[in-house]
Amino acid sequence: MSGKRPTILAIGAAVQDVFLSHSDEFEPKPDKPLHVQVMELEMGGKADVNKIDFSTGGGATNAAVTFARQNLHAIFMGTIGHDPAGKAVLDDLDKEGVDTRFVSYSDKLNTGYSVLLLAPNGERSILTYRGASTKYLIKNFNLDDVEADWLYVSTMTGNMNVLDHIFHQARQKGIKVFFNPGKGELKQPQLLKGLLEDVDVLSLNKEEAQQIVHGETSEELVRHLLHYVGVAIVSDGPDGVVASDGQVIIKAGMYRDVKVIDRTGAGDAFGSGFLSQWALGKSLKESIIFASANSTSVVTKIGAKAGILHADTKLHDMPLTETKF
Ligand SMILES: Nc1ncnc2c1ncn2[C@@H]1O[C@H](COP(=O)(O)OP(=O)(O)OP(=O)(O)O)[C@@H](O)[C@H]1O
Ligand SMILES: [Mg+2]
Repeated sequence: MSGKRPTILAIGAAVQDVFLSHSDEFEPKPDKPLHVQVMELEMGGKADVNKIDFSTGGGATNAAVTFARQNLHAIFMGTIGHDPAGKAVLDDLDKEGVDTRFVSYSDKLNTGYSVLLLAPNGERSILTYRGASTKYLIKNFNLDDVEADWLYVSTMTGNMNVLDHIFHQARQKGIKVFFNPGKGELKQPQLLKGLLEDVDVLSLNKEEAQQIVHGETSEELVRHLLHYVGVAIVSDGPDGVVASDGQVIIKAGMYRDVKVIDRTGAGDAFGSGFLSQWALGKSLKESIIFASANSTSVVTKIGAKAGILHADTKLHDMPLTETKF
């Protein structure tokens, strides 16, 4: 890195997100626990919504915006369609100063597009068309002309051969890898474990970690994940996070008790927040604090990008312990 600002290449999904909210239809039922609630739409009926917000999302574009707002050189590599949603994604990235020269276009599929029905408690049900962010072609993920210090890889919807190709190139070029796999990869745990040998930092939520290794607590999960990678991070929503680099182990609580407006993008803001500091050579503790602050800010705003922190944000302390591993 030697003094120059680090370059991070974010690879993965790009979508347009449309949020519909402020509707009586999305009100949770007071007599039912949250995890069994359903959003119902009457067949043939029409439900009024009173607010609409347009934003863009997809794990990799969200991450690229964190890197850009932290004044790192951020590059996004992913596939969009020739359509207004693709233009919205590119416009947002341009506005944020993200380098988009490695974006590819699908001839057949539209840009990913999600309609998010937001309940007043911040939970949401999502109708999602993954489109061009599903069928990835190896030829669109060529790192020959890429100069980067780190790769931030979010889900490639289970295209393990494309991931293998990307990680292999990264290793050959000496680019370090941060990985936040999604459902598509977690469905193939054996292949996923095979990929982890090229991964430097692995970030998962607790349920995801339990699909790869055994463990009841986040700490057990982190300890087991360290058999595969150098740095393991397990987050558990408002219940905090455990992380270790094999030297120290950090256990952190909630950064701040906020009113959750929309939890979309929490995981992306956390992972990218972490890497934005880790890539600068900050400590595990400092990187976890910024990750927590970034994700906590994101859940207070509608959309995955609106709450992403800028470089001049003052951070405060949070409940956290650091012990020897
Ligand atoms: N209700 C909340 N209140 C405050 N912070 C939250 C809340 N939910 C999530 N966060 C923040 O976001 C981080 C990541 O959240 P979580 O563990 O739910 O990740 P995730 O399940 O991967 O999210 P995603 O569904 O976006 O992928 C948490 O560590 C925390 O800092
Ligand atoms: Mg996640």
